[in-house]
Amino acid sequence: MQTETIGLATVDLGNALTRYADWPSPTTIIADGPYGVGGFPGDPHTPRELPAWYAPHVAEWSQRALPETTLWFWGTEVGWAMVHPVLDLHGWEYKGLNIWDKGVAHVAGNVNGQTIRGFPIVTEVCARYVRRVEFENEEGEPLSMRQWLRAEWLRSGLPLYKTNEACGVRNAATRKYFTQDHLWYFPPAPMMDMLARYAEEHGAPTTRPYFSLDGTTPLTAEQWSRMRAKWHHAHGVTNVWRENAVRGTERLKKGRTKALHTNQKPLSLMERNVLSTSDPGDVIWEPFGGLCTGALAAARNERRSYSAEIAPDFYTEAVARLKDELEPANETMPLDG
Ligand SMILES: C[S@@+](CC[C@H](N)C(=O)[O-])C[C@H]1O[C@@H](n2cnc3c(N)ncnc32)[C@H](O)[C@@H]1O
Repeated sequence: MQTETIGLATVDLGNALTRYADWPSPTTIIADGPYGVGGFPGDPHTPRELPAWYAPHVAEWSQRALPETTLWFWGTEVGWAMVHPVLDLHGWEYKGLNIWDKGVAHVAGNVNGQTIRGFPIVTEVCARYVRRVEFENEEGEPLSMRQWLRAEWLRSGLPLYKTNEACGVRNAATRKYFTQDHLWYFPPAPMMDMLARYAEEHGAPTTRPYFSLDGTTPLTAEQWSRMRAKWHHAHGVTNVWRENAVRGTERLKKGRTKALHTNQKPLSLMERNVLSTSDPGDVIWEPFGGLCTGALAAARNERRSYSAEIAPDFYTEAVARLKDELEPANETMPLDG
């Protein structure tokens, strides 16, 4: 197994499937893998083959993800649509679809209006998923988070309206955190801390602390703050990402003109993936590295990253790119006299 560590970035040569077990659990996964267009060796030729191709990867992501993990799934719109049921089946909760609009310049001069029979495609998609966190009741039956919160409070024998007193609010706690409909809100960590303490103090005596995550130790605010995916809002950004395909000096080339990798993603979009869903020090996975734009975005923002690339040529180029960008240039000392 060949591995290179460049600053905060670790890049493995090989099939990502063989690497996941050795990587620390991720806060963010950036999956920019096969599109089902036969674009590179191993890319299936049709989107129909993608569900079977991705299934073992998705199973691994699910097993190793945390409640705080976000998955960004890049693809064509039909490729993503094909894989969505696999993601759903493995407990990934769909949050939204972002459209990368490369603009008309992407096809300018390349469209034959006599033969195309459809509008030229200048988009790719990037779907966002989070973990569907599941709990159990005392009988071992699965409960969603909102069902569990209510079940735990009711287990204490306290009336629901007392949740407001526990949180020091007039009626917001019952209305927001304990409703079972679409108006439900995730209770912020300080509120959850107050709810757990109140139930412990005023509820029926129990050997299993109320709202305990492991059934034995009392819940802490820190634990609760990690029970959902991270999100850092960027004002003014919508789900339409207008950004040219990579060009100019950002585009890595073989010789003077030929692109090194046809799927090199804009660094700005990979930084958007990283910054909105993780914090400095967190772990980013990039299972399908290519030129490892995700690893570069991670390192530039003080995140640790784990990437795999199966093709030796791309692996070598990715490592060279990361070294160029992340390692301070070796100063050449002037020769004396
Ligand atoms: C869409 S490209 C990624 C491009 C990358 N985001 C960038 O900006 O350079 C997908 C890459 O995944 C690699 N790949 C395909 N199957 C793989 C696997 N099982 N494990 C690791 N890499 C794989 C391909 O060789 C290809 O370079």
